[in-house]
Amino acid sequence: MALAKVLSYGIIGIDAYPVEVEVDISNGLPAVNLVGLADTAIKESRVRVKAAIKNSGFKWPDTRITISLAPSHIKKEGSGFDLAIALGVLAASNQCNGEYLRNYCFLGELSLDGSLRPTRGILPISMALARYEPSQLILPVHNAKEASLVSDLTVWPVKTLCHTVDLLHNAGNYAPFKIDAEQLFKQHNRYTLDFSDVKGQYAAKRSLEVAVAGGHNLLMVGPPGSGKTMLAKRIPTIMPDVTLEEALEITKIHSVAGALPVKDGIMATHPFRLPHHTISYAALVGGGTIPQPGEISLAHQGVLFLDELPEFRRDCLEILRQPLEDGCVHIARAERSFVFPACFMLVCSMNPCPCGYYSDPRKACTCNATKIQTYMSKISGPLLDRIDIHIAVPAVQYHDLNDPGPAEPSDTIKRRVEAVRALQRERLRSDGIFYNAAMSSKQVKKYCILDDEARNLLKMAMAELGLSARGYTKILKVSRTIADLTGSDTIQADHIAEAIQYRNLNTMG
Ligand SMILES: Nc1ncnc2c1ncn2[C@@H]1O[C@H](COP(=O)(O)OP(=O)(O)OP(=O)(O)O)[C@@H](O)[C@H]1O
Ligand SMILES: [Mg+2]
Ligand SMILES: [Zn+2]
Repeated sequence: MALAKVLSYGIIGIDAYPVEVEVDISNGLPAVNLVGLADTAIKESRVRVKAAIKNSGFKWPDTRITISLAPSHIKKEGSGFDLAIALGVLAASNQCNGEYLRNYCFLGELSLDGSLRPTRGILPISMALARYEPSQLILPVHNAKEASLVSDLTVWPVKTLCHTVDLLHNAGNYAPFKIDAEQLFKQHNRYTLDFSDVKGQYAAKRSLEVAVAGGHNLLMVGPPGSGKTMLAKRIPTIMPDVTLEEALEITKIHSVAGALPVKDGIMATHPFRLPHHTISYAALVGGGTIPQPGEISLAHQGVLFLDELPEFRRDCLEILRQPLEDGCVHIARAERSFVFPACFMLVCSMNPCPCGYYSDPRKACTCNATKIQTYMSKISGPLLDRIDIHIAVPAVQYHDLNDPGPAEPSDTIKRRVEAVRALQRERLRSDGIFYNAAMSSKQVKKYCILDDEARNLLKMAMAELGLSARGYTKILKVSRTIADLTGSDTIQADHIAEAIQYRNLNTMG
């Protein structure tokens, strides 16, 4: 045989597409030509594959070798085609039976010694492959769990190139890898952190509960060390449980971005993403010649935490508006445009002033009014419009820190949140939205019914705090969530009063 065909898969955006690897060996001076819009990593695969073949005890054909990756119009990237290329070379040079290759799809990067390394994007590839014949995948052992999440697929994990060739010739000696997806999901569907670790901070915890219950974005303002990061990291633990279907969606995005813990094979919890404030635009929203998901997509179904909000680049903050509205992000490239999921809860934190200690009883603030104003103005505007709740997180009280009793665990809070989410889903079903934060002003009018006392209080507060129409709608939405948490149909004065407290930035002046 001088021509071999091997099936592999590539990733574009967060989806997979079949790639046919063809290897032709013909007479001529030793040379390796690679055609089919390959990136540097694939071009380097010539070097890896040659070394792997030699070090596995096979012979590298010292003649003219042409490797083609089809379809040729799609740019390809990554090192996942190594195994397919190597087997193509072996089959074309009669060191492996080409007939056997037809029954499988091959993925995996090769080390120079012939062992296989894990690759990205296994879950979307497995999902795509399961729909067609042959639904049999040969891939590195490390990726076996992830591939087995797809039930209609037969998974054959291999350790080395030699192992692969042996499996092809003696398939009867091997058994495919199987795992119960439901069981794997349950194993990883728990958190290591818990709200019971946080002492005191009752007001802050309550506001986090309100925020998660109604799907509201949140900003925490407080001095250094007051526990803002500690609180934020525990938000996923009170979100309604991730379903297996959601877990697969989260896993898919993480897999494509190379952010999946390979040994777990699944992401079964709400993600918590904490990008540093020096992050680039592309890393935040997604980018690259062939775009990859950014932090906002990795935060899909979870929390995006922007610690020290005023330090982020202005353009990075501005770009968040559209995903916050639509739950996804559009990335345009010359050849085509991509849509990545990006439905996340935005949680931000900041100090009340540049030195951090404004209004803190423990330490005097050293900032003047102009400095504080400049600092605050960095976050004003469109992004703040998408945040319904801002709260002050003061330093934790000494007597609270020394309280030996356990605080309320995440599970208890989560159960309340789940009940209130169910209530909202039911009420908003005909509007096609799931939680209070997503209500339009028309829906706010329809669903936020105030009693007389509540109406008077809100009227007074509007005048005194100089609230805008936007602030008004937000107070109504948040008070709807608070009323739901109390099990009340109408919104009462104490619900409004609590919601007004969550306009901390307005009340701080
Ligand atoms: N309520 C609390 N209960 C128990 N420990 C706490 C509490 N608040 C703070 N701590 C302790 O203080 C440490 C600092 O908290 P954290 O880093 O969350 O503060 P921060 O508000 O994010 O500060 P910074 O503004 O410096 O980022 C925590 O790691 C934790 O050990
Ligand atoms: Mg912090
Ligand atoms: Zn200060």
